[in-house]
Amino acid sequence: MYSNTINQNHQIIQLYGNQNSKGSVIMKVLAILGSPIRRRNNEFLLNKVIQGLEDHIPKDETVEVDFVSVQSLKVSPCIACDRCTRIKGCVFQDDMSYLYKAFNDSDVILFSSPLYFNSVSAQAKAIIDRCQAIFSSKYVLKDPMIDRNRKRLGLFISTAGVDMNDDTELFKGTLPVMDLFFRSINTEYVGNLFIGNVDRVKTSDNPEASHAAREWGRRLVNSYSNPASSQN
Ligand SMILES: Cc1cc2nc3c(=O)[nH]c(=O)nc-3n(C[C@H](O)[C@H](O)[C@H](O)COP(=O)(O)O)c2cc1C
Repeated sequence: MYSNTINQNHQIIQLYGNQNSKGSVIMKVLAILGSPIRRRNNEFLLNKVIQGLEDHIPKDETVEVDFVSVQSLKVSPCIACDRCTRIKGCVFQDDMSYLYKAFNDSDVILFSSPLYFNSVSAQAKAIIDRCQAIFSSKYVLKDPMIDRNRKRLGLFISTAGVDMNDDTELFKGTLPVMDLFFRSINTEYVGNLFIGNVDRVKTSDNPEASHAAREWGRRLVNSYSNPASSQN
């Protein structure tokens, strides 16, 4: 039903700590744009986090970013067929096959989504629900689809139309969803970048949002290369 399109639709970007030389890859980043629309608020913030990472890559080292947009992904929603409780993996062979491997191979996962009805977008939720196959592989089949010992850091980025000053709990509904998602992929959920009021003030016109996003880039590089400094 769903074909695999990922090979044409993701972009691998190499970022170098030193413009003149390519170093070894110290960190692999998977950046998922969960907005169905390109070049808007979530994409802007994702790019700013990536810029922040780039600014702090140690000299002679390289960070590889795999940028994936849900706009061009084919990910079927979970149909609760329960096959993953009997056979490792998912019954669907669509772009989720790529993401299962990418989750496993990543050190940092940037997951972005606009706030839709106080939750994540339907496209983002389809990806999350399909992680049920990983859950089953670990807890039912006892044959994990993911390396549970690899250290991974996860940041959730979300934007909303409502102003956070008008609703201090605006993003609350997303928190348990993202918590369970990051647990399912054995990723430490290190924090959130939440920006409200974007239908009036775009993130690209909001210097504080840009600054906060770049700061997350810096923190992720620091936390990854030096766990003791995760608060810096
Ligand atoms: C289907 C839909 C549901 C939305 N639900 C909410 C909501 O519950 N709360 C809110 O503050 N904004 C809501 N919005 C506004 C979006 O969150 C806002 O336009 C979005 O953050 C923009 O992200 P993007 O430009 O990256 O696509 C909704 C928008 C759409 C299209």
